[in-house]
Amino acid sequence: MADNKAKLTIAETSVDLDVLSPTLGSKVIDIRTLGSKGYYTYDPGFTSTASCESKITFIDGDNGILLHRGFPIGQLATESTYLEVCYILLYGEAPTQEQYDKFKTTVTRHTMIHEQITRLFHGFRRDSHPMAVLCGVTGALAAFYHDALDVSNPVHRDITAYRLLSKMPTVAAMCYKYSIGQPFVYPKNDLSYAGNFLHMMFATPCEEYVVNPVLERAMDRIFILHADHEQNASTSTVRTAGSSGANPFACIAAGIASLWGPAHGGANEACLRMLEEIKTVEHIPEFIKRAKDKNDSFRLMGFGHRVYKNYDPRATVMRETCHEVLKELNLNDSLLEVAMELERIALNDPYFIEKKLYPNVDFYSGIILKALGIPSNMFTVIFAIARTIGWIAHWNEMHEDGLKIARPRQLYTGYDEREFKSEIKKK
Ligand code: CMC
Repeated sequence: MADNKAKLTIAETSVDLDVLSPTLGSKVIDIRTLGSKGYYTYDPGFTSTASCESKITFIDGDNGILLHRGFPIGQLATESTYLEVCYILLYGEAPTQEQYDKFKTTVTRHTMIHEQITRLFHGFRRDSHPMAVLCGVTGALAAFYHDALDVSNPVHRDITAYRLLSKMPTVAAMCYKYSIGQPFVYPKNDLSYAGNFLHMMFATPCEEYVVNPVLERAMDRIFILHADHEQNASTSTVRTAGSSGANPFACIAAGIASLWGPAHGGANEACLRMLEEIKTVEHIPEFIKRAKDKNDSFRLMGFGHRVYKNYDPRATVMRETCHEVLKELNLNDSLLEVAMELERIALNDPYFIEKKLYPNVDFYSGIILKALGIPSNMFTVIFAIARTIGWIAHWNEMHEDGLKIARPRQLYTGYDEREFKSEIKKK
């Protein structure tokens, strides 16, 4: 293989393929011509497939590096705000003060949702999982913003980005309020993005919620750390749904559905449930044993990642924030004790070392969210609020690059052609 050329030989046939060089990361073999030669590539779960070209986020899983538009996640988490990160993801550069103020004002001024949408909630059972409600209501936004929306128009796409970014915390907080039978709390424009979300979650018409700056910062950090993560399952779902030119609110609803699973965004909820089940440090060995048992489907939630084969850089920041929050609230959470001991044991266990299973972002986020008073069934909803900007940035980039409908092929292993003989009596 020359530096920028590869040759694939199958029996007597050779196919020349270009090798593309990214700015960072692994080289990519361009196999687009293979289909016309009568061959497909087989890669279930896309472990070796680049599905698109992107300039938004870079991950080096072996070295624990995550960059958004080139900026390291550690710096963004400590030196920026979530809205600043949103601007960076969406437009590619850090905003000037003037650009930031304008962006913030626009996002803040569009947080209310159409009053008719509040009635949709009442069709759901009160005990519905909030992710089911979030998925349904976000999809329903397509019914409110469809006819005048031209996805090929960059201005329309920009307006869509603002709408989604602004309204997602409002819809998410409504999912919570509905589940506990409290009236919806309307957004407050003098609060920050994170502060406003906490206000909509915890204020009631009878009592103001005073936003604690340490908790507000922790919420903002959780949003930053979940903002984007390259071509993960939900982002790829949004791209796939959007590749047909579909309504973006419906595409984001598809992303929310994909995020819900325990192998993806549902892991934070599953991780907290696991820590509660482990309960005390003495029970940890039993759970480690189960995680290593091939005949047991149990996995240590919050451990392992498809891309990171090193410490998840987001987990490092999350760990610090977790300590800050517990200190501020003067909480001595026994779950944190279990989490830290579990981390220590797993990091020293040959099974986890060999398989490069390190704590991921969800390992600590559940403890922080619990300390903030957020119930565990809302954890993935919070992930969805944060990831909305990543989904929109990728959806937008896909449109900018020119739409090509996603249409994978398959390795067919079903029947050969055979004759159909019906055994059903016809009337
Ligand atoms: N506990 C025990 N064993 C594990 C774990 C775990 N958490 N994760 C992977 N393994 C083992 C797995 O059994 C397999 O062993 P073997 O090679 O002997 O069959 C090996 O490690 C490789 O696992 P895999 O499932 O083939 O790896 P994957 O890249 O397909 O899966 C993952 C990645 C995140 C789905 C998986 O590590 C997992 O299920 N982790 C727990 C769930 C979790 O915390 N998910 C959150 C991911 S971070 C948030 C996000 O980005 O959405």
